[in-house]
Amino acid sequence: MKTKQELLELLNSLSLEDKIGQLQQVSPVTIEATGLETGVPTQNNGEIKKNFTSVLNLFGAEKLMKIQDEYLKNNEHKIPMLFMADIIHGYRTIMPIPLAQGCSFNPALVEKCNSNVAAEASADGMHVTFAPMVDLARDPRWGRILESTGEDTYLNTLFSAAMVRGFQGEDLSKDGTIAATVKHFAAYGGAEGGRDYNTVDISERSLRQDYLPSYKAGVDAGVALIMTSFNVIGGVPSTGNKKLLRDILRDEWGFNGTIITDWGSANTMISHSVAANQKEAARLSIEAGVDIEMCTPCYDRHLKELIDEGTVDIKLVDESVMRVLELKNKLGLFDNPYRFANPEKAKQIIGCDEFLADAKELACQSSVLLKNEDNILPLSEKSGKIAFIGPYTCEKRLNGAWSVLDKNENSPTLEQTLKKRFGDKAFKFAEGSKLLGVEQYYQAEFLKYDMCEDTREAKMKEAVKLAKKVDTVVMCIGEHYFESGEARGKAHITLPDVQIELFNRIYAVNKNIVVVLFNGRPVEIKNIADKAKAVLDVWFGGTMATEAIADMLFGITAPSGRLSASFPLCVGQIPVYYNYLPTDHPVENSFEFGSRHIDIPSEPCYPFGYGLSYTTFEYSDFTLSSDTLTKDGSITATVKVKNTGNRDSFETVQLYIRDRFASVSRPVKELKGFKKVWIKAGEEVSVDITLTPDDLRIYDINMDYVTEPGDFYVFVGKDSTVKEYKVFKYLG
Ligand code: BGC
Repeated sequence: MKTKQELLELLNSLSLEDKIGQLQQVSPVTIEATGLETGVPTQNNGEIKKNFTSVLNLFGAEKLMKIQDEYLKNNEHKIPMLFMADIIHGYRTIMPIPLAQGCSFNPALVEKCNSNVAAEASADGMHVTFAPMVDLARDPRWGRILESTGEDTYLNTLFSAAMVRGFQGEDLSKDGTIAATVKHFAAYGGAEGGRDYNTVDISERSLRQDYLPSYKAGVDAGVALIMTSFNVIGGVPSTGNKKLLRDILRDEWGFNGTIITDWGSANTMISHSVAANQKEAARLSIEAGVDIEMCTPCYDRHLKELIDEGTVDIKLVDESVMRVLELKNKLGLFDNPYRFANPEKAKQIIGCDEFLADAKELACQSSVLLKNEDNILPLSEKSGKIAFIGPYTCEKRLNGAWSVLDKNENSPTLEQTLKKRFGDKAFKFAEGSKLLGVEQYYQAEFLKYDMCEDTREAKMKEAVKLAKKVDTVVMCIGEHYFESGEARGKAHITLPDVQIELFNRIYAVNKNIVVVLFNGRPVEIKNIADKAKAVLDVWFGGTMATEAIADMLFGITAPSGRLSASFPLCVGQIPVYYNYLPTDHPVENSFEFGSRHIDIPSEPCYPFGYGLSYTTFEYSDFTLSSDTLTKDGSITATVKVKNTGNRDSFETVQLYIRDRFASVSRPVKELKGFKKVWIKAGEEVSVDITLTPDDLRIYDINMDYVTEPGDFYVFVGKDSTVKEYKVFKYLG
């Protein structure tokens, strides 16, 4: 490792061009198009500049080592380049999508899984991941809700910190770690109408109270990089937003890591119409404190000119370069430019048994049992003859968006997994339909190739015929895996029409239906859920998805997820999140004049925190350790939870508070603690959750972050609809 002094000397030995190179990341296309002739195209068309700091989304230890070699040959100062990538929910062993991970309510397991991810990625030569994405998401129309851990600020802060710790470990110079990037700073999830990249216009209070805490939690956990977001907030693009990047992130929170733009988000300040050209975009970015520009060449083409003419102070460039050198130093790249790239080791650990077992465990803990009438699940002898019907019985692509191995070629389909376990003859299978029918018109060409009309009727008929002959039908249906992710905003969040038709035709001949639901967002599912006996939401579960599903369906393990985002009844109900502010016309008090829609109930289809088990739990003896709390004190809520069913299982005990009266209106409920506990059949356990005055802090009328004296309600229960509460007074 270099000392601070050595880094300074290195900085001082660089020419201005060298320095600017340290602030420029290039796209993989640049490298792949030119072989190892790496670089950003300059304004002198055709000339390839070999001076840049990093490339993104190239993979493979051997390949990256070669690129590093070639790059260093051209680098006078022998400053290694950084390999960054979107390693979002797994490297080669893919975990469930982050929205599902949120449902695990198990940050410790997610931390462990992300340390596995880091081990695979670092052995394969990666240095930096563009994860975690910690954007609060309250709108399931937004396709990137898939990448978030959901609608709750508190839950998101825990996962943000856990993911950062998982990737980075204790010390970035150690084997098995990669640097993490908390993104997209800030409030990218607040896009109006759920249209990706759209305007965000939220109050300062909501920004501070709801959106910023998850980024801050990542910073407090020591994250190495922050990525700016594409959006404007209150008209100011994040990438040129001094208040966000300098005042809040650097000065208030003390972040001294590296700030990188999102792909081209310096350049897109031109589209936002705040920069007239790339030169202005470069100036706005460097003034706001952006260190590395991803993929567009505003810095590369214009920083020198801005400095030469005195518009930008060289000090800003020096500070940014120093932060990049510090990142490379922390990662140990000056000692070994290949870092931990090791093709042999990569082969050994990628997909090793331990990582696969963790991925399967997380898939089970992330799956949410939404309905289970007559205890139709788990399947057993009593289920009689079983048929598996639907496009997801024979689908391999169960990773969902933002997985490194998108095609998921190595994962078995559910049919393959079940045949391997139970033999070829145990169950019958029918695809029933493709994922999308031709009537599903999308403004997206890439979604059309899967539509298949020629065989549609024949497939449906075959499935219906099969359904008539069996006692139980397991329908594996859901969103097309390309319907969620970046740029996948949707106005309708129902399942594709062809699958709804398939469901209804099967239901007409067999009422014993278990739905296994595949989805990247909360979907509109009421019409199906009302008819099906059970609905098990498995999201996109990754490499071990079908193994986990088989375990859960047959009761080898039980799903134990709780929803990290509410399922709306229909699109018109959006946004529908549990921690809303009370209104002056509360729906429960004034029927005619309540704040509600007159044509639908006010409650979501499934609320935040909701999820069933294969057993039942009873809560009793809820007490608070005191009815007052002082400034330096704490208060403990205790509840007894009894497993009243006949199988051991997890229960997620959730604690919510309500600040009854404050200088500003406060949500009707806010999650402030939970415990996921394993309770044996028939056993009763006592669960404690402790609150301190810190948990009660709010941005008051003056935007000061304080705990105001007064009454607080404490609710402890199974999900966010819990009604019973106790009161304590915070005395200050
Ligand atoms: C996404 C980022 C991602 C980047 C690099 C952008 O389009 O918004 O989340 O990290 O691309 O692939």
